[in-house]
Amino acid sequence: MKYGYFDKEKKEYVITRPDTPLPWINYLGSQEYCALMSNTAGGYSFYKDPKERRLLRYRYNSIPYDRGGRYLYIRDNKTSEFWSASWQPVQKPFAKYSDDSSKLFSVQEGKKDDYVYECRHGLGYTTITATYKGIQTKTTYFVPLDQNCEIWMMEIKNQSLQERQLGIFSFVEFCLWDALNDMTDYQYNLNIGETEVEGQVIYNMSRYRVEKSYFAYFSASQPLAGFDTQREDFLGRYGDLSGPRAVVENKSNNSIACGWAPVGSHNIQLSLKSGETKTVIFVLGYSEDKKEAKALSAKYSKKEEAEKELRGLNKAWEENLGKLEVRTPDEDLNMMLNVWNQYQCRTTFNWSRSASYYESGIGRGMGFRDSNQDTMGFVYQIPEGVKQRLIDLASTQFEEGDAYHQYSPLTKKGNGRGYSDDHLWLVYSVAAYIKETGDIKFLLQKVPYDTGKKGLRQAQAKGTMFEHLVRAVNYSLKHAGPHGLPLAGFADWNDCLNMIGPKKQAETVMVAQMLAGALLEVSRMAALLKKKADSIKYAKLHKKVKDKINAVAWDGKWYVRAFDDNKKPVGSKKNTEGKIFLETQGWALMGGVADKDRALQCLDSVKDILATEHGILILQPSFSKFYHQLGSISIYPPGLKENGAIFCHPNPWIVIAECIMGRGDRAFEYYKSVLPPSKDPDVRKIEPYVYCQMIAGKDHKDFGEGKNAWLTGSACWNFIAVSQWILGIRPEYDGLMIDPCIPSSWDGFEVKRTFRGCDYNITVNNPNHVSKGVKRFLIDGKEIKGNIVPPIKGKKTVKVEAELG
Ligand code: GLC
Ligand code: GLC
Repeated sequence: MKYGYFDKEKKEYVITRPDTPLPWINYLGSQEYCALMSNTAGGYSFYKDPKERRLLRYRYNSIPYDRGGRYLYIRDNKTSEFWSASWQPVQKPFAKYSDDSSKLFSVQEGKKDDYVYECRHGLGYTTITATYKGIQTKTTYFVPLDQNCEIWMMEIKNQSLQERQLGIFSFVEFCLWDALNDMTDYQYNLNIGETEVEGQVIYNMSRYRVEKSYFAYFSASQPLAGFDTQREDFLGRYGDLSGPRAVVENKSNNSIACGWAPVGSHNIQLSLKSGETKTVIFVLGYSEDKKEAKALSAKYSKKEEAEKELRGLNKAWEENLGKLEVRTPDEDLNMMLNVWNQYQCRTTFNWSRSASYYESGIGRGMGFRDSNQDTMGFVYQIPEGVKQRLIDLASTQFEEGDAYHQYSPLTKKGNGRGYSDDHLWLVYSVAAYIKETGDIKFLLQKVPYDTGKKGLRQAQAKGTMFEHLVRAVNYSLKHAGPHGLPLAGFADWNDCLNMIGPKKQAETVMVAQMLAGALLEVSRMAALLKKKADSIKYAKLHKKVKDKINAVAWDGKWYVRAFDDNKKPVGSKKNTEGKIFLETQGWALMGGVADKDRALQCLDSVKDILATEHGILILQPSFSKFYHQLGSISIYPPGLKENGAIFCHPNPWIVIAECIMGRGDRAFEYYKSVLPPSKDPDVRKIEPYVYCQMIAGKDHKDFGEGKNAWLTGSACWNFIAVSQWILGIRPEYDGLMIDPCIPSSWDGFEVKRTFRGCDYNITVNNPNHVSKGVKRFLIDGKEIKGNIVPPIKGKKTVKVEAELG
């Protein structure tokens, strides 16, 4: 590949030149402390909440992009030349492709005077290696498990024949904690910065007069020749990061910030003999106790301690990923599913849509619909974490049954209301949790409602989790419009379909389909609780909603998307633009609404009208002008975002629908069309190892260009589609179902999956080259009926064999 490749053995993505089409990033830290880390060491860190507890300043939309980061300057004191250990911000000319385009320069092979670069993004760590004029630096950045700090471990090696005198300058720019205020209110915030320096530790004490309780620290393992903590003193007047005065002159000012812009820069002078390697370790962290900060700085200044933490981190990830391992004939599928897709699911679970290179960490908090979906499919990795998340989410549900649109991770307080879909996702996420864990008791656990009223203690309004779900479906049943379908509110899953009008009677077919599916789940969960009458009641309601949808929302060849405020269909052949939408074709099957004929017909319409080589378009044709009755969906240029892009999040809904219908070849083709690794990075642009929110559609000149990588429901839904539907390893209430729907050319595949405390070694054989249908099913060598492995007590491993035919 042009910019890098997958190191399958090490589970790393290796970037071989720094000028990637966009910054290609990684997430360090998967608990409370998070560091966004680009391939040129850009990014920022925060503790728990990217809005309120931001440690490092980052300049979104900067020129050049990706500025603000964890920068290390190396200066040759003999020649006065300096460079960056991560290419940016100094940007020395770097070794490019050799003429043989299939061959990259490795670090050793770089031309003598070129800057040779390599970045390895691994699971929870990033290593950037740079060699320039005989000096090699290899810097590994990571966040130790259970710690609120990041370690930067830099090995510096002298590969030249002479002894070298080097100056090493670190640089971070502190954010004044509140990221929004930090970029808006300068009359205030240029007067609150304060730093202290004790020994090798720099402290950002800004705002400590109001909030004595927390600060940031930044330490170095070597004695300092000097330091700077005031930005202007480090950079010089009108200076910038590509040539800071302190580095140019090899002279730090020992500046202390009191107002203006607090930064952290250590100055370390080293001499290195020919062939010699030295290690310098920096620790950047959040703390509420200076003793702790000092202790951690001292501890991780020791290489053995830092390396021990890194090993611990690697081990934890091995264990995480060990719970699901697949071996199929498709290498890209194996690599994405075994490593990167799971990794991305964990990242979206942690940070929802809050902090990425496209989400500024200020606006969105934990979205109700997004966070519910992020837990699905991924429960097996951290069931306890998911359970707590579901409780947090359900606690922002109102007694009426609907829910806050999002909540702050720090305070857990909700905000925003009026979406028609939010509350229904809770039914799906709780169902997924129970199918995975078998923890039926969870349905009886009492969880508060948010009364929305000040003063009325939440504890006064509690209901069991099951009651929460019942209220969610009842809310949608109750709030119906003229066709008897759920009212659309401000929007449904499609945030930009804002059919707000004076009559407030727009309706959403997608939510009706989601409701139909949710009623089925509630009916099944009622049965688990032995509530027979409820089980029958909700099954009947499912049928009623299903019939209603089929009576009013079938358009001849597909399901319409909605009815606007004037009862006119949206996503219908009657429209001139936006005639067909993807969502209602997928949910027709997922919600159990379409019978066979309509199911096949609507999926064929998707194939005919929406499918492209880069994925399935969300609608066609895109809107070419603004339609006030549809809202912001028609603001975007044709082919972007909700207006006709390939929205990656709902693409898997069609994959799932095709699997329900047994068309494995088509399902797989769709899955592959979005799958990142094999795409040309100059077209797709975003990281080849993660899903993005959208890909420009065919109505746009940059057809195929991906945008908004990392924090997207595409991670979880693609994971569900491929693991539970294509490979068909699907948790159900009564056990683990094996129901593959694969390309007919496959001979079979193998899966190792941990389920309810037991390891299942599953082999699927496909001697007759079909896509679906388990003909023979053996558990530990014994043939049984059906294709569900019931929970098996007292066994650690179980062998499962399935033969398709
Ligand atoms: C974004 C939002 C998600 C929404 C989707 C479609 O991905 O995060 O909540 O459902 O867009 O509009
Ligand atoms: C915008 C985006 C949409 C996103 C929404 C959330 O409308 O286009 O994708 O879901 O913002 O705030």
